[in-house]
Amino acid sequence: VQQRLVTEQMLQDTGAVASSLAAELYGLDILAENIQDEKENVTRFMMLAREPIVPQVDKPFKTSIVFPLEDWKPAQLLKALAVFALRDINLTKIESRPHKKRPFRVADDTFSTPVKYFNYLFYVDLEASMADPKTRKALGNLEEFAPFVRVLGSYPTDVSEV
Ligand SMILES: *[C@@H]1O[C@H](CO)[C@@H](O)[C@H](O)[C@H]1NC(C)=O
Ligand SMILES: *[C@@H]1O[C@H](CO)[C@@H](O)[C@H](O)[C@H]1NC(C)=O
Repeated sequence: VQQRLVTEQMLQDTGAVASSLAAELYGLDILAENIQDEKENVTRFMMLAREPIVPQVDKPFKTSIVFPLEDWKPAQLLKALAVFALRDINLTKIESRPHKKRPFRVADDTFSTPVKYFNYLFYVDLEASMADPKTRKALGNLEEFAPFVRVLGSYPTDVSEV
């Protein structure tokens, strides 16, 4: 959207942060590449649908989730991956973000237990649709030992229409 605005309104003093493909599509000059301040940082561009896309099972869907693990308990990651492996759900990405200095923090609503800190957050992409009961079972299983599981989205994998 940013890059389209720049093109459509012929803005001369405005830039857009986008992929090089977008620059090509919209005929924009690339002023700088790889602008991340940390070499390992990667920006993922998400396209949000105006109307919610209801996950289905008749075409390939991907689901992105995030969850922390309590790293002082043994074999947590192995258990987390097993909930998908046991159900033949492929993973296309797994990324962990350490939060050593600023550990991820979750405050308990009830105030009866102290604030919890998690040192790692795991971002995982599954080749599975939330409409598939198998996926929901896998996530239910994960919730049994992960402090929480958040579904970031379930979206069609078809990227032929950019
Ligand atoms: C890149 O990663 C570092 C270390 O995790 C972080 O401090 C920094 O804010 C990140 N930069 C961007 C633009 O996300
Ligand atoms: C999982 O990966 C295998 C091997 O690449 C592939 O044959 C299979 O179709 C994939 N399953 C799904 C649900 O995408």
